[in-house]
Amino acid sequence: MNDHADLPAQSPAQTPSVVALASRIAKPAPPRVIAIANQKGGVGKTTTAINLGTALAAIGEQVLIIDLDPQGNASTGLGIDRQSRRHSTYDVLMAAATLSDAVLATAVPRLSIVPSTLDLSGLELEVSQERDRAFRLRRALAPMRDATVRVSDFSYMLIDCPPSLNLLTVNALAAADAVLVPLQCEFFALEGLSQLLQTVDTVKSQLNPELMIHGIVLTMHDARNNLSNQVVADVRANSKQKVYDTIIPRNVRVSEAPSYGKPVLVYDLKCVGSEAYLRLATEIIQREKELMANSPLAENVIDSDQRHGVA
Ligand SMILES: Nc1ncnc2c1ncn2[C@@H]1O[C@H](COP(=O)(O)OP(=O)(O)OP(=O)(O)O)[C@@H](O)[C@H]1O
Ligand SMILES: [Mg+2]
Repeated sequence: MNDHADLPAQSPAQTPSVVALASRIAKPAPPRVIAIANQKGGVGKTTTAINLGTALAAIGEQVLIIDLDPQGNASTGLGIDRQSRRHSTYDVLMAAATLSDAVLATAVPRLSIVPSTLDLSGLELEVSQERDRAFRLRRALAPMRDATVRVSDFSYMLIDCPPSLNLLTVNALAAADAVLVPLQCEFFALEGLSQLLQTVDTVKSQLNPELMIHGIVLTMHDARNNLSNQVVADVRANSKQKVYDTIIPRNVRVSEAPSYGKPVLVYDLKCVGSEAYLRLATEIIQREKELMANSPLAENVIDSDQRHGVA
C-alpha cells in the first residue's frame, strides 16, 4: 500500500516546493565544528568555549563543548563535578565510548559537554605508535556528521584545546571545520601566532584540507590601558586573518563565574563580559552565513535553521 495514500493529491505546480521542503527536512546540515586553539596558556580559550557556547545556546543553537584539555577547566567551569564524568574525551579518543555516550547536559538549556579527565594527559604516549593517532576525534565525530544517521541535533561543536600544539590539538584541528583563535591583549599577544598558523597550514595540507581559520578574537582588553589599545591596533593592522569586531573586555565577573560552576551569562547576564560574548556569538553566526554562502555546499546549507532540519 502507498504510504501517502491518505494525503491529498498535489497539483504539478506545488510539487517542486514540496520536494525542496522534503529534501531539506531529510538532510539536516551537519554541525559546524570549531576548534578554539592557541598554544599560549591563559589567553581565554576555555572562557571563550564556555561563554561563546552559552551565548550561542541562548540565541537558539544546539551546542556541544568538547573538553580536550586534561585540566578539565571547561568541564569544571560548567559545574560538571568529577564523579559525574562517567565517560570522558579520553574514553572517546581511546574508542572505549562513543561521543554520544559521553555527552552530558549542563544547567544551560541547549548546551551540552563531553567532559575531560586527567587520563587525557597520557593519551599521547598511549597512542603514539598508532597510525590513526591524529584522526581519533575526527572518527568519533563522524556519526554526528553523517546526515543519513541523524544521531544528534547539535548545530555547533566547540573544542576547547589545551595550551600546546600536541597530539590533542592536532586531533582537534584534524576534526574541525574551522579554528577560532583567542588572542590576549597583552605585550606578547602575537608571539606564537605564526607557529599556530603554521600548524594549521600543515594540518590542512596533510590531514584536513577543509580546515580554515574562522577568525581571531581579542580577549581581556582593558580600555584604560594604552598597551591593550595598541595591541588591538597592531593586530587589526597586521593580521591577514579575520579579526572579530567584538573585543572581550577584562571583566572581574568573567573571572569569578567559573568558581561558581557557571558561565558568566548565567552568573551575571548584564555585565560587560556577558554582553561581549553575546555580540561575539551574533558575529560568529553572521560569519558562518558568509562562509556558507561562499562554500560549494551553499545550495544545501544556508542558515542554522536548516541545520536543525527546520523549513
Ligand atoms: N575577559 C576576561 N576577564 C577577566 N578574566 C578573564 C577573562 N577571560 C579569561 N579570564 C581569566 O583568565 C584566566 C585564563 O583564562 P582561560 O582559562 O579561559 O584561558 P585558557 O587559554 O583556556 O588557559 P589554558 O591555556 O590554561 O587552558 C582565567 O582565570 C580566566 O578566568
Ligand atoms: Mg583552557
